[in-house]
Amino acid sequence: MNLKGRSFLKLKDFTPEEIRYFIELSADLKAKKKKGAAHDVLKGKNIALIFEKTSTRTRCSFEVAAHDLGMHVTYLDPSGSQIGKKESIADTARVLGRMYDGIEYRGYGQEIVEELAKYAGVPVWNGLTNEFHPTQMIADMLTVQEKLGRLEGVKFVYMGDARYNMGNSLMVACAKLGMNFVACTNPNYFPDSSLVEYCMEVAKETGASITLTEDVQEAARDADVIYTDVWVSMGEPDEVWESRIKELMPYQVNREVMGYAKDTAIFMHCLPAFHDLDTAIGRQIHEKFGLTEMEVTDEVFESSQSVVFDEAENRMHSIKAIMYATL
Ligand code: CP
Ligand code: NVA
Repeated sequence: MNLKGRSFLKLKDFTPEEIRYFIELSADLKAKKKKGAAHDVLKGKNIALIFEKTSTRTRCSFEVAAHDLGMHVTYLDPSGSQIGKKESIADTARVLGRMYDGIEYRGYGQEIVEELAKYAGVPVWNGLTNEFHPTQMIADMLTVQEKLGRLEGVKFVYMGDARYNMGNSLMVACAKLGMNFVACTNPNYFPDSSLVEYCMEVAKETGASITLTEDVQEAARDADVIYTDVWVSMGEPDEVWESRIKELMPYQVNREVMGYAKDTAIFMHCLPAFHDLDTAIGRQIHEKFGLTEMEVTDEVFESSQSVVFDEAENRMHSIKAIMYATL
């Protein structure tokens, strides 16, 4: 499989075989790291990380993975570059492309990362946009593979805000990998209909299925994976909290939901998660709306079915695989 020189902007751009290759390569590189086997095969290369939104996992994954591969990293924080303010995306891409071997971008519209890739002349990796979070998908599918031993035929239920980066990306990933994807939420939060149509077409080829439903019991019944994400994403205004809480509380992942799923089911979340009052935003929401937990209860988050920290670790191994394959 030769993916050298390709950008990694969204899973729609990759075949099921290519996606499976990224997952397998992630597992290989994880095994190498666990054994302590050196894999600094990209010595002498340099990468730039552009973050227009904050990050813990994605930034640290790119930095650690780059160091393990022998590369040097420049981090540009949300205020640390001219991008978009004094300099266009196209010009920024052409400048960074002269200095770096690869560029990561986290920010707002998908069109920005697509524009960067068009002009950079080097691989560009999408570290999250409003529409997609593709590096997270390789980590998530590696985690499902590790925990359940398979991907094909897995019943994968996503609850909550299914019309944003995580819901969109998981639906595409499941479609490409022959999985049974269920978005369970208030219809205002179903993924965009054109993306649903695209995924249904892909599903015909791969044996996947795509279901949108409001019925929690029906959705969660016999599920293999229950997944959720925050109800308000980075860059969205504070004013939406009230309606999100009202409309998405019925889709909170709690003991009852996990009870409908298989006994062997796993709980997943891309993180960060609001499952207690140990965050500033969690406490603000508590003061305003009286909630002590949001998209997932603390009980489920801390339960033995929760694999969220294995999932977080896998971000590093999979981002390493994406850079390794494309550089
Ligand atoms: N899951 C994820 O992307 O986490 P960060 O926002 O911390 O990078
Ligand atoms: N939907 C979340 C994902 C964070 C990893 C956000 O965009 O903030």
